[in-house]
Amino acid sequence: MIEYKECKRLFHLKTREFSYVIQILENNLLINRYFGKKIKYFSDDNKIAYQDRAFSPNPTSKDRTFSLDTLPLEFSSNGLGDFRTSAIEVSNEYGTALDLKYKSHRIYQGKDYLKGLPASFGNEDVVETLEIELYDSLSDVTVVLSYSVFEERNVITRSAKVIAGKTAIHLEKLLSFTLDFPHKDFDVHTLTGRYGYEKEWTKTPLTQGKYSIGSIRGASSHSRTPFIALASPEATEQSGEIYSAHLIYSGNFTAFAETTAIHTTRLGMGLNDEKFRWVLEPGQEFQSPEAILSYTDKGFTGMTRDSHEFIRHHLTRGTFAQKERPILINNWEGTYFDFTEDKLISLASEAAKVGIELFVLDDGWFGKRNSDTCSLGDWVENREKLPNGLKGLAKKVNDLGMTFGLWFEPEMVSEDSDLYREHPNWAIQITGRGHTYSREQLVLDLSQDEVCDYIIESVSNVLNSANIGYVKWDMNRNITNIPENQANHEKHEFYHRYILGLYRILETLNQRFPNVLFESCSGGGGRNDLGMLYYMPQAWASDNTDAIGRLSIQEGTSLIYPTISMGSHVSAVPNHQVGRITPLETRGNVAMLGNLGYELDLTQLESSELEEIAEQVETYKSIRQTVQFGDYYRLQKTDNTYAYNLISKDKSQVVFTFVKILSQPEAPFIRVRLEGLDPEATYYCEKLSASFGGDELMNIGLTIPYVQKDYFSLQYIFNKK
Ligand code: GLA
Repeated sequence: MIEYKECKRLFHLKTREFSYVIQILENNLLINRYFGKKIKYFSDDNKIAYQDRAFSPNPTSKDRTFSLDTLPLEFSSNGLGDFRTSAIEVSNEYGTALDLKYKSHRIYQGKDYLKGLPASFGNEDVVETLEIELYDSLSDVTVVLSYSVFEERNVITRSAKVIAGKTAIHLEKLLSFTLDFPHKDFDVHTLTGRYGYEKEWTKTPLTQGKYSIGSIRGASSHSRTPFIALASPEATEQSGEIYSAHLIYSGNFTAFAETTAIHTTRLGMGLNDEKFRWVLEPGQEFQSPEAILSYTDKGFTGMTRDSHEFIRHHLTRGTFAQKERPILINNWEGTYFDFTEDKLISLASEAAKVGIELFVLDDGWFGKRNSDTCSLGDWVENREKLPNGLKGLAKKVNDLGMTFGLWFEPEMVSEDSDLYREHPNWAIQITGRGHTYSREQLVLDLSQDEVCDYIIESVSNVLNSANIGYVKWDMNRNITNIPENQANHEKHEFYHRYILGLYRILETLNQRFPNVLFESCSGGGGRNDLGMLYYMPQAWASDNTDAIGRLSIQEGTSLIYPTISMGSHVSAVPNHQVGRITPLETRGNVAMLGNLGYELDLTQLESSELEEIAEQVETYKSIRQTVQFGDYYRLQKTDNTYAYNLISKDKSQVVFTFVKILSQPEAPFIRVRLEGLDPEATYYCEKLSASFGGDELMNIGLTIPYVQKDYFSLQYIFNKK
């Protein structure tokens, strides 16, 4: 996977589909020679093109063609000639510039964990790591770049570690990587959006200048995802070159693509340097989060496949990583805060009858919480609502044959709570300033160890008090009023320390409760990122439960995150977020594209609706392996239609889903060709009472019936004969 050619001082990193070549120049500068489709051998006869460029500074007066401003640098720092966005900045008694030069390297099988941070993992058979040590002799600063090559998964991960030498430094900025491309013929693809409309797939042509996304909300946010891809403008689902990058992090981040006057492109990603400064005393080190890099020439389908497989096998951990996930019912939209134990049990009983496997009690079970104005922080069951406590309720749910799950929002505190009255200083605040509110709640200061310990213990106590098999971990506001101006005016460490505190809490709870399935949530997808997926193998994709609204949210989410990780619920009509009335069939078909759940009051439904739900649940159980672990294809998307197929790894089962939003007069016939099937096999579809060759379905395709109905959908399941 990693070859080092001493004579040319070249590292050639190879994965299944791509090559990544780094060279150490004579003056020990580290540059990127190639990143793209796999090549057997990098000859180095394809020389670096040096050119005297006006206003591009030179490190030596003897050679006007050599400039940091124009070379494809492997890890950039500016101040000595490179005017592009840098990967690192420190300030110390020598100023802010760094002259990072190669010092040493080591190559080893396997991959180390990143201290305190979530990171990908793999054993010695599947991953090999290169560490390159760069050194600035004047300031005695060392930077260690790590490259872990997952050959078969078609991924290289990168991270950077800074080590202070004999003097203290202020680390002003540290990205996980920068990467220079020799041209700018790209579109930038990101996932943007807003609350209730997360992960909108956004394409922006790259022109001269800089395109960047990021967050300074203390969470990755509803409107930004730590993901960026550069795609050739002609890339389609099936073909075209795409370079993609993810950051395994849940807090403030930045990602950008920047073009230069001479039409090169720099891609970069890492911690956001806004409100960031870390003080390193002599000998101390700082580790960046890890980034995942990949390349494919197989279009967006190829990118999605690599991303899903990598996340499923090398990022999601624990008991549930490779397990089919239970179909759940969540009481939130069914009851909101207005429930009693009897109400919950009648809901659970209906759920059990239709075959649902997990009952989740959402917000409102603790303290005196009957609205969203109080009690966050008081993780003690409300005996008025639950006279038999969580233990009694869990037992009754278990007796119905279901697992019992519970909602928490542990990072928060209400002003009207015992916790706040006892520890007002645990809420993030600036002394002398009033609070800033959001949903009337405040954020606990996770940069303080004792606050994290309180969260660990209070959540553990609840989990130990009853038979709880699932936790929905919510986070319903962003962070403001950070106090570091008082603590130490030289530091801006708060946001990252908060995330490190959160990761410590989650790591501890993962270890203490290996048999609890965790699902992350932040008002839906406000923190749906790879940092959280490391600790919690599924995420509630959006509070928007409207089947039509969900189409683009789910499409964006599953562009990069596995379908198994995407919580997707069927809810009541008229829909609570948008007021739309869609058929139950369409709500079911759309939710079955992810990790299926229900979120409505089943006791209010007609018996025919309950029968339909029972059928949906039964169907999902028969296709769950395919949906949750199979390969996912986006087949067709227009302003009015969406079509997908999921196919099991052994190609024996195919789930085809089609949705048409609005009915139109005299609409043309719609034909959809399936993908990924076994061309030699025959597939039988019970609903159609018909058999088709795999090659027929892929080449002729299916003609969608002409139905004059809005929000029409269909799902066909094909099994290999
Ligand atoms: C957030 C979540 C919802 C629900 C509520 C409860 O908005 O996204 O699913 O849990 O909190 O207050």
